[in-house]
Amino acid sequence: MKKMKLVVVLLCATFYFALSFKDGLLPNGNFENSPKPSQMKGTRVIDPHAIPNWEISGFVEYIKSGQKQGDMMLVVPEGASAIRLGDEASIKTKVKVTNGMFYSISFSAARTCAQDEKLNISVSPNREPKDWGILPIQTMYSSDGWDTYCWGFLVESNEIEIIIHNPGKEKDPACGPLIDSVALKAFNPPKRPRGNMLKNGNFEEGPYIFPNSSWGILIPPNIEDDHSPLPGWMIESLKAVKYIDSDHFTVPEGKRAVELVAGRESALTQIVKTVPDKTYDLFFFVGDTKNSCEGSMLVEASADRDIVQVSYESKGKGGFKLAKLRFKAISPRTRVRFLSSFYHMKSDNSGSMCGPVIDDVRLVSVRRI
Ligand SMILES: *[C@@H]1O[C@H](CO)[C@@H](O)[C@H](O)[C@H]1NC(C)=O
Ligand SMILES: *[C@@H]1O[C@H](CO)[C@@H](O)[C@H](O)[C@H]1NC(C)=O
Repeated sequence: MKKMKLVVVLLCATFYFALSFKDGLLPNGNFENSPKPSQMKGTRVIDPHAIPNWEISGFVEYIKSGQKQGDMMLVVPEGASAIRLGDEASIKTKVKVTNGMFYSISFSAARTCAQDEKLNISVSPNREPKDWGILPIQTMYSSDGWDTYCWGFLVESNEIEIIIHNPGKEKDPACGPLIDSVALKAFNPPKRPRGNMLKNGNFEEGPYIFPNSSWGILIPPNIEDDHSPLPGWMIESLKAVKYIDSDHFTVPEGKRAVELVAGRESALTQIVKTVPDKTYDLFFFVGDTKNSCEGSMLVEASADRDIVQVSYESKGKGGFKLAKLRFKAISPRTRVRFLSSFYHMKSDNSGSMCGPVIDDVRLVSVRRI
């Protein structure tokens, strides 16, 4: 009898696991399944349940690729449709997930008229009050106006509601960000691999990257450990860093790496346990992603007070070099930090910001000197 019970429990566990969302586009996450014409007034969606799998509130428009707005033609990053969130409008969807796991949401967004648009990402249920992410939508990184963003969170239930909200208050209700391609990815808690004191030092674990998006994904500024879509790492700065994959960029090692796209305003950090007075070596690759980001680059790596500046001549054709910072720890916790000393712009006249690439960061203690 006991055995039977165990089998049943195991079966349920497998069954549940199969049902909970792990990786990929959410159901109708690209908004290709459209509302019925009777549920719309012009481009505005009037029935809250008109967009399959989503519930809307406020002024939400259903946008077709190629649609005109004044002189501007609206382009959609994926497929034929996207949505636009007016002031204080939001969309939400329910997803079955695995309780206790970390997840990251990825989505594409573009601003339309205002200079300074923001999106508010939140998940419920959530035990922490006021725990939402305000993501600046700046569209200064990709050439076609769209960027992909991500946000991380810990799941506290077997079913969650994901809400994307435009907190803006513009004069024109039709001025609001466009949203497309909403995906989710589950993570295991980051571990330190053998021979490296850092978690996720090679950046292989990170947010979902859309197979068809060639512009990478922005990891927003002011990201703490508990909300990091890049497990183990924090973004301790005013501007985003860019997460890139080897399908669309050249990366020094493995499949993923980080591009420091906003000069001294985008810093990547991890805090690691150290023993005071012990000597450590921080190894890392500095390179470029073969994305026409040319010029003399300088990456500043620091471990608390110790700093090394690594120069790298980029011809924009891909390449990398190994760099090292040897330091003596001064406290039980050392802050390892990377930033680009200079600002760079692509040489293809796109006006897109770019920068040096960091990969395969390893921290080891030095036994004898
Ligand atoms: C962000 O969205 C959540 C959920 O819709 C809402 O409760 C919260 O007030 C919003 N925050 C801001 C600053 O708009
Ligand atoms: C990705 O692009 C290819 C070729 O353009 C296309 O056939 C495919 O349907 C696209 N996939 C998605 C998920 O959009």
